[in-house]
Amino acid sequence: MSTQTLDKPAATATEDFLPLLGTDHVEFYVGNAKQSAYYYQSAWGYELVAYAGPETGVRDRASYVLQQGKIRIVLTTAMQPDHEIAAHQVQHGDGVKVLALWVDDATKSFEETTKRGAKVVMNPVKISDEFGEVVISAIQTYGETIHKFVERKNYKGAFLPGYQAWKSSVPVKSVGLKHVDHCVGNVELGQMNEWVKFYEDVMGFKLLLTFDDKDISTEYSALMSKVVSNGNGYVKFPINEPAEGRRKSQIEEYIDFYHGSGVQHMAIATDDIIATVAELRSRGVEFLKVPDAYYDEVWDRVGVIKEDRDKIKHLNILVDRDDEGYLLQLFSKPIQDRPTFFFEIIQRAGAKSFGKGNFKALFESIEREQELRGNL
Ligand code: FE2
Repeated sequence: MSTQTLDKPAATATEDFLPLLGTDHVEFYVGNAKQSAYYYQSAWGYELVAYAGPETGVRDRASYVLQQGKIRIVLTTAMQPDHEIAAHQVQHGDGVKVLALWVDDATKSFEETTKRGAKVVMNPVKISDEFGEVVISAIQTYGETIHKFVERKNYKGAFLPGYQAWKSSVPVKSVGLKHVDHCVGNVELGQMNEWVKFYEDVMGFKLLLTFDDKDISTEYSALMSKVVSNGNGYVKFPINEPAEGRRKSQIEEYIDFYHGSGVQHMAIATDDIIATVAELRSRGVEFLKVPDAYYDEVWDRVGVIKEDRDKIKHLNILVDRDDEGYLLQLFSKPIQDRPTFFFEIIQRAGAKSFGKGNFKALFESIEREQELRGNL
């Protein structure tokens, strides 16, 4: 077995030069934020909590802030064609622009990372309204994706200054999504190690796991992956790159359609994956399908779990076990027409890993979809 655990997250973050409190929000640039917001509300159970746009005095864009549990998603669209948001959307399709990190000190976060080589996107700025003040700064990561540092300890408003509290006009029922578990980046061939080094050197992350093409290959295609984590383990970023195979790697398909490196998927944690997935399926969310044969061998591999095996099979949920426990997971189909971004739903019962035992079945399932799209 070539997977190795290289380093556990430190128990304390006392020497961490970039202490992170978690994921603050994830912002997507999309073609039609109003309709996307409807999808996130009605299908995924996110509540609309804030808005910025022409009605609030913002002329060049519209942004919808959606929340469920601790997850905050922002959907932003441009109002005019000659806007960088419009250009981003033309190039990449709907996709993640900002992985925002919640910090206590956005100025120090900016200084510590830029002095170690991070490319500046936005110098620290203090913005305020009647609810208090925030400090925001930003640095570049892979592709056109950026990390914002958000310091909000002196702020009590709905989201950020410039946004107004807003209410859903569609009935919203939570599906039990709790928090962001990890966010995965796909990078171009040969760039994985560079970005791992960026997270290590510039952001003080540690390499947690390595998967090579022997772990992650099927008859047709392969990929390599390394997982980096911040000091307290709250923020985990797996980074994938394509590997040589007989056919086109799923990572290459992503890169071809996203036109560069970008965020491949976001894993969202739930405490009850059976209820969450049953509800999402009933609302029309589509998931990857593994063959029934997967369940002929999975129970031998993972042993006893608390959940009902028949329900797990019926909902086509995947199961894996590591030294510390087990996990249940499932992957949506891409949520836009381009075969790019998708969501993972994950429930951890002790396991801190990423479902390595499911890679083969999962990637074969992705390849069946790739073939249907004519991209294998
Ligand atoms: Fe994942």
